Amino acid sequence: MMKSVYIAFGVVVGAAMVAGGVAWAIIAWRGSGPGAPPPPPRGWWETADLYQIYPRSFKDSDGDGVGDLPGITSKLEHLVEAGAGAAWLSPVFQSPMVDAGYDVSDFYSIHEEYGKMEDFEQLVRRAHELGLKVLLDFVPNHASTESQYFKDSEDRVEGFEDFFVWADGLHDPENESNILPPSNWVSQFGGSAWQWSEKRGQFYLHQFSVQQADFNFRSPAVRDEMLQIMRFWLDKGADGFRIDGLPYLMEANPADHGGRYPDDPLCGRKEFGPNQLGYTVPLYTKDLIELYDIVYDWREFVDNYQRENGGDTRVILTEGYTNISMTMQYYGYGGRLGAHFPFNFGFITDLTRGFSAPDLVYCVLKWLTYMPRGAVANWVLGNHDNSRVASRLRPALVDGLNALTALLPGASVTYQGEELGMRDGRVSWRQTVDVEACSRGNEQTYQLYSRDPARTPFHWDGGPSAGFSSNASTWLPVASDHREINLERQKKEPRSHFKVFQALKALRKRPTLTHGDYIVEALSDKTLVVVRHLAPLDSFTLVFNVAGSSDTVHTDWIRSLKLPATVYVTSLSSKRNAGDVISPGPLELQAGEALVLQASSLVSYGHKLS
Ligand code: FRU
Ligand code: MG
Ligand code: CA
Repeated sequence: MMKSVYIAFGVVVGAAMVAGGVAWAIIAWRGSGPGAPPPPPRGWWETADLYQIYPRSFKDSDGDGVGDLPGITSKLEHLVEAGAGAAWLSPVFQSPMVDAGYDVSDFYSIHEEYGKMEDFEQLVRRAHELGLKVLLDFVPNHASTESQYFKDSEDRVEGFEDFFVWADGLHDPENESNILPPSNWVSQFGGSAWQWSEKRGQFYLHQFSVQQADFNFRSPAVRDEMLQIMRFWLDKGADGFRIDGLPYLMEANPADHGGRYPDDPLCGRKEFGPNQLGYTVPLYTKDLIELYDIVYDWREFVDNYQRENGGDTRVILTEGYTNISMTMQYYGYGGRLGAHFPFNFGFITDLTRGFSAPDLVYCVLKWLTYMPRGAVANWVLGNHDNSRVASRLRPALVDGLNALTALLPGASVTYQGEELGMRDGRVSWRQTVDVEACSRGNEQTYQLYSRDPARTPFHWDGGPSAGFSSNASTWLPVASDHREINLERQKKEPRSHFKVFQALKALRKRPTLTHGDYIVEALSDKTLVVVRHLAPLDSFTLVFNVAGSSDTVHTDWIRSLKLPATVYVTSLSSKRNAGDVISPGPLELQAGEALVLQASSLVSYGHKLS
């Protein structure tokens, strides 16, 4: 895992890895002496941009208004053009679609609206031809109550009795004929996390919707089944997994609590009723230390798979919203390796509208400070569970934030549409399908919870249904701003979010970005700077005014920047152009303006990348 620090001396040839890890772009490297080796190549996943495809909303090939696998395959070139190294597909498995596919009813087959197994095989083949890796979404915490596993468990079929978390109810002291749930646990979507099964005469646990029953990870049979599922998809050519909902994988063991499930402590805030998320503090239902060993076992499994079968590294990336120390343990602990990286949600959870440059610096350095030595960082701006960048923060920040994730060391993660600066779509209560909005909200409050606005179809063009579907009616409405914000238009326009994005993602494949030192600091309350440096190559520096008004900084304040520098790429909000020269002196930046500057090498005082 540890990589020695590469320091370049002399005449060398730098190799920048391009998507897929097969082809190598050779970049002439000016130097002062002979003999130094090129920087060691990094694994494909260490510097890649991972592009999240939300299958229902990417591209509909058969006109039913729902995206599908042949649609995705037909548009994979877009990922290449966007500079991605890998696609992560949100779940494509058979599902009653209560939670948009995160309620899997058969982990071994493709959801019928999305296509057939051959369509998946075709997708993987095409992706690999294009040099793209394919990651699948693995949802181990729960299965749909329509799955055979659940039906068999409910029927106490031998071998499946303990596949899920079953428990007897408690007697109601106030009403003899009533049975109460085993504990006060609250579901992520509101209401008790326990549901009564008439058939089995017991409650089952569901940390998410009623139709998503939690697997019992204390059962060796369940753990074994998970490995079978992973092996199945690796055999089909998947390059690894994004693993869903890990903090909820395990719950307290009744054996440690006198034979019953212990109540979570109460949060004590009066605004929450017992059926609302937040009523309890999830002491026994989230972040249990035992779950990490399962993740480490999965890492061992994919590493062994790679050793036995050859090919590039198969990765596991973990999803969990939790505090920094619990997050970092996903990387590994006590000599065991874990996730190749756990998703870094800092830009989603720690930045609010009106954030300052120091807020942003703090957020970046938090990850880099806690991350274990030699581990790979990653930067996530959005996903299917959160409001889009332009809507959550400000449209003017789209390019600057894309530049930030491009300039920072490690991998970046792009949710489909963020390369265009797409905004949240408008979805009325009547059109709302998100189970979270429907369970936690009502006609008045659903917008507080609904994830549908970030899930509306991709804007391929300005035509009907945005080129997403030939059908005028789509599973979620197409956002009306697709006439202004769409890929076709942004490809034609001389300057666009997409063109900025392309320039940035191409830039991040250079050795300075994949291997160089970094400096991240605030020059003022408004302006952030990121310097990347790898002598004797040119350095690249991002200067980004995150505020809603202009800011004047001084070029002297930027450590390790040798002037004059050349503007490499700018945000749309900038009046400057690529190729403009920045000379020593005051530098005025417009609201939201981001500049990436190219300069010749100077001694760097930055942090070494391991
Ligand atoms: C991420 C997520 C959600 C889904 C939940 C349960 O939090 O992927 O989209 O509702 O996990 O699988
Ligand atoms: Mg379709
Ligand atoms: Ca669980």
